[in-house]
Amino acid sequence: MDKTVKDELLELKGNEYNSLLINSANLVGEHKHPVNIVGIIGCGAIAKIITDYAVAGNLGVETNFFYDQNLKKAKKLAAQVDGVAVRDVKDMLGHVDLVVEAASPPAVVDLVPTVLQAGKDVMIMSLGALMDFHLKDYLEDLARQNNAHVYLPSGALAGLDGVRSAAVGEIMEVSLVTRKNPLSFGIKTDQETVLFEGKAGDAVRKFPANINVAAALSIACGREAEVKIIADPSVDYNCHQVHVVGDFGEIKTTTQNRSCVTNPKTSVLAAYSAIKLLKRFNQTLKVGT
Ligand SMILES: NC(=O)c1ccc[n+]([C@@H]2O[C@H](COP(=O)([O-])OP(=O)(O)OC[C@H]3O[C@@H](n4cnc5c(N)ncnc54)[C@H](O)[C@@H]3O)[C@@H](O)[C@H]2O)c1
Repeated sequence: MDKTVKDELLELKGNEYNSLLINSANLVGEHKHPVNIVGIIGCGAIAKIITDYAVAGNLGVETNFFYDQNLKKAKKLAAQVDGVAVRDVKDMLGHVDLVVEAASPPAVVDLVPTVLQAGKDVMIMSLGALMDFHLKDYLEDLARQNNAHVYLPSGALAGLDGVRSAAVGEIMEVSLVTRKNPLSFGIKTDQETVLFEGKAGDAVRKFPANINVAAALSIACGREAEVKIIADPSVDYNCHQVHVVGDFGEIKTTTQNRSCVTNPKTSVLAAYSAIKLLKRFNQTLKVGT
């Protein structure tokens, strides 16, 4: 008789450090919908908010598998949902429909290819990594070859639906001004200080953990955004102002984000955007582009 995921979880809980033997049939899995079982890479601020939401029973999918370079963090979240902390990402791949990367740009480079090669869908939060267009193309190719999909949530940015629609036509200008408290850049100053002005690709290289929105905006537009990053001691939120000009007209948005309690660099809205995308997989009526 086929084992259910619940059976496998029960077995694993007593044996969480041992590698699972991944059935080779699962390594070249076909694209599967609906998404039911989700694994998470990176058990920090975003993963915690997703898991809390799952515990409340509102996610519409099960988050059962957790991986972190710090095993304790994976175990802590796994305990919340009666799930499994794995020692190696490969150990979750035979069991999940989709993996959420909520770790870091190096995790996108090192771990996401393995997920896609196993034919599993992936949701990437560390979008900054994809400003390396070779990596982006490589991951897209891998996804195509393995019948998998790569999802990039809107993250901490509002208005990406409109921007994506606008990109159907011609976009002439795209810019982003990001303003955060100096502490979230790890610096101290009592003056408003421009830390960076230039192309999104360069901003992402200099502020990899802070500027995923510049990457999201650039990818949605199909062109590199002009970016200004400001450390502003007068703000206690993460603010993103977007300006897009195209043949459709003009979009101006301002998003004032509250930070996650456990990570001041990360906005709560980024975690909510991952939750919304997870919920959306299984919703019959989907609003927004
Ligand atoms: N798309 C967006 O708008 C947006 C917004 C905020 C954060 N982010 C990005 O999402 C990611 C997660 O954010 P967070 O606030 O939850 O971070 P966090 O620092 O709170 O947690 C990250 C966790 O991932 C683990 N980790 C890091 N690199 C790893 C690796 N290579 N392998 C395994 N585990 C690894 C860390 O140990 C940590 O537990 C970051 O890259 C962040 O820049 C994106």
